[in-house]
Amino acid sequence: MAIDAFLQSLTELEAEALGAFDAAPDAAALEAARIEFLGAKNGRFKSVQKGLGTIPPADKPLAGKRLNEVRDAIQSGFDRATERLARGVIEEVDPTFDPTLPAAPPRLGRRHPITQTIGELVDIMGRLGFSLEEGPEIEDERHNFDALNIPADHPARDPLDNFYLSGSGGVLRLLRSQTSTVQIRVMERRQPPVRIIALGRVYRPDTADPTHYPMFHQMEGLMVDRGVTMADLKRTLALFADSYLGTDVDVRFRPSFFPFTEPSVEVDFFWNGRWMEFGGAGMVDPNVLRAVGYDPDVVSGFAFGLGVERLCMRRFGVTDIRDLYTNDVRFLRQF
Ligand code: PHE
Repeated sequence: MAIDAFLQSLTELEAEALGAFDAAPDAAALEAARIEFLGAKNGRFKSVQKGLGTIPPADKPLAGKRLNEVRDAIQSGFDRATERLARGVIEEVDPTFDPTLPAAPPRLGRRHPITQTIGELVDIMGRLGFSLEEGPEIEDERHNFDALNIPADHPARDPLDNFYLSGSGGVLRLLRSQTSTVQIRVMERRQPPVRIIALGRVYRPDTADPTHYPMFHQMEGLMVDRGVTMADLKRTLALFADSYLGTDVDVRFRPSFFPFTEPSVEVDFFWNGRWMEFGGAGMVDPNVLRAVGYDPDVVSGFAFGLGVERLCMRRFGVTDIRDLYTNDVRFLRQF
């Protein structure tokens, strides 16, 4: 083969290969072009290369040099096309995509509105000098009833109004129906003065509706010392209401009855233009003080129990208690 024809075919091959690589619309087309031109077995570069053997010896150095140049040029053309397609993948997805922008902030979870409310209540009462105490959710009759001056035949002990548990080794147990149990537990192991709150779940077999749920939370408060009066109770609740609901919330007591307080009251707060009931309260009954070994002639105390869901719902504008426990993230995400 004459050197001119050989060089001519190399030039044509280079132009064709570069054209094919540039035009390849996707990775599959580029790979097909690579095999056509650079394939190790039947690639077109390989077949042109075979012609080198038929070049007259004097022209071989020139032919070999040109062959190497063209091979390098075709290889670079292929590399450029590979890079172009890699960039293209991103551009095709979204032409406005800017990989230099800061990443989107991670979507974190958030605390349940009831958990947020409890945190705030603990905070407010802590500033008033009330420390947080805990008690078990599975209770015995002494702490849920007897020591709270609730006699054996009292309707509050009705099996229809409580979750009694079976098979607990002779001792009758139940899911506590009120956090007043913690009053007893604290006074049993501590001498006055006492200034505590208890915050937790209580259970009653109510049918769920917008204002009832078989599990809810109470905030119990208890203060026992020499000379504690009803005025201390009202002032404490007024300070609490001011802190939690906003400034200048009126507090109203309505006469009521609880076996463990005497006198007993229902507690209303005047808020957003109307009176709303938030729980019960009263002066600790002397029988309760005696049941834990305190002397009612020396110390007196007040106690209150407020509904945490009620406080939470009024604050956040929730109108159905069931929404709090369906745990639909679209609902929970709003708080
Ligand atoms: N334990 C009462 C209830 O669950 C509330 C209460 C607590 C009343 C403390 C008086 C004193 O309804």
